[in-house]
Amino acid sequence: MANLILYYSRKGENYVNGSIKSLQKGNTEICAEYIQKAVGGDLFEIETVKAYSADYMTCTEEAKAELQSKARPALKKSLDSIAGYDNVFVCGPCWWGTYPCAVFTQLEQLDWHGKKVMALMTHEGSGLGTCERDLKGICAGAVFGKGLAVHGADAARSESAVAAWAKAQV
Ligand SMILES: Cc1cc2nc3c(=O)[nH]c(=O)nc-3n(C[C@H](O)[C@H](O)[C@H](O)COP(=O)(O)O)c2cc1C
Repeated sequence: MANLILYYSRKGENYVNGSIKSLQKGNTEICAEYIQKAVGGDLFEIETVKAYSADYMTCTEEAKAELQSKARPALKKSLDSIAGYDNVFVCGPCWWGTYPCAVFTQLEQLDWHGKKVMALMTHEGSGLGTCERDLKGICAGAVFGKGLAVHGADAARSESAVAAWAKAQV
C-alpha cells in the first residue's frame, strides 16, 4: 500500500504555550516526518508562492482574511495526480479552526476516489477543529480514517503517538 504525506507547515514565529517563539522547523513538518518514518511513503510539502508574514500577529490577520474570502493561494508546485497512492495523510496547522487555505488549493486539484484519507492537525488548543469535516467536503469518493490532533508545542515529543496512530490507519 502506497502512502502519501501532504503537509503545510510554517517556520518562524509561532504561538507556543502562551508566548511567541521562533521555530526552526514547523510543528506539522516534524509530525509529517514521523508519519513517514513509521509507515513509509512520499512527503509532499505545500508551499505558497507568496510567503505569509514572519510576524505571528500579522500572519494571523493574513490567514483570517484568506479564510473569510475563501482564498486559494497560488502554490510553488502542486501535485496533479495521486493515482499511485492508496493512503493520503493530510497534515497542517490549525489556522482559525481549519487548515490554511493553501492546503485546500492542493486538495481541490485532486481526484480522491478510492483513497483513504487521514487528517493530522497541530494546534495550540483547537484540536482538529473542523478539518475532518472540511476534508469530507472536498475529498469526494474517499474513505476517511481517524484524525489525530497534536499539540504543536509537544510536536517534537509526539513521535510514539504519531507512529502508533499512523500504523493503525494503513
Ligand atoms: C495564522 C495562524 C492561526 C492560528 N490559529 C489557531 C487556531 O485557531 N487554533 C489553535 O489551536 N492554534 C492556532 N494557531 C497555532 C498553530 O496551529 C500551531 O502553533 C501549529 O502547531 C503551527 O504549526 P506549524 O509550525 O506546522 O505551522 C495558529 C497559528 C497561526 C500562525
